[in-house]
Amino acid sequence: MKNLIAGNWKLNPTNQKEAKEIFDEIKAGIKNATAEVVVCPPFVYLALRSFSEGGFALGAQNLFWEEKGAFTGEISGAMLKDIGAEYVIIGHSERRKYFSETDEIINQKIKKALDAGLKIIFCVGETEEEKTGGKREEVLQRQIQEGLKDVLDIDNINVAYEPVWAIGTGNNCSVEETKESIEFIRKFVKKDTRVLYGGSVKSENSGVYIKEAGSNGLLVGGASLDGKEFIKIIQSAE
Ligand code: PGA
Repeated sequence: MKNLIAGNWKLNPTNQKEAKEIFDEIKAGIKNATAEVVVCPPFVYLALRSFSEGGFALGAQNLFWEEKGAFTGEISGAMLKDIGAEYVIIGHSERRKYFSETDEIINQKIKKALDAGLKIIFCVGETEEEKTGGKREEVLQRQIQEGLKDVLDIDNINVAYEPVWAIGTGNNCSVEETKESIEFIRKFVKKDTRVLYGGSVKSENSGVYIKEAGSNGLLVGGASLDGKEFIKIIQSAE
């Protein structure tokens, strides 16, 4: 099983020129990578195939739960697949928080993404408040069980453990805590399901999540916008 290193660009960068620069840096550095690499840019850059083809898979950061129809502003799994996306991120804490995505919505999205033939990076993780309230395991269990409700085949699902308090804060989760959470998550998935870590991953801290915490890869936000840094993170997984 290859490790999976995914870059989540979020709402960045602000123009095509910069997007091309990041794609080019990744393309230049990715040769001989043993991990599977996925880059998840905003939808508009995903469609610029002349920029984005080369040595890594593409992923979207979201999709809608219907295939077509009167849903202004939305994008379907089939459209993503058609444009060349192989993966989609679902359940990211920013979508749970800013777009009120519930476990039920996430479950619908997961089903639609699988129907469309997409692979999924399914994010789960507790907030600071839930952590201090001793609710980490309860939250993880609920998010996984509700998110995967009635999903019979989870072969195309990768779970990313992303403690919300660690995302974009520089406060990355300790190896011990990550290990505990990853082991807990494994109780609810298959033996060969990849479980990733995400939350303030940088090249200085990335290697231990795979080598010591037992993760099968990483979901990288901010640091994936620097192509050279992202390559160093990919190399740290080897
Ligand atoms: P970060 O984001 O690496 O910037 O903390 C991770 C994520 O949100 O997937």
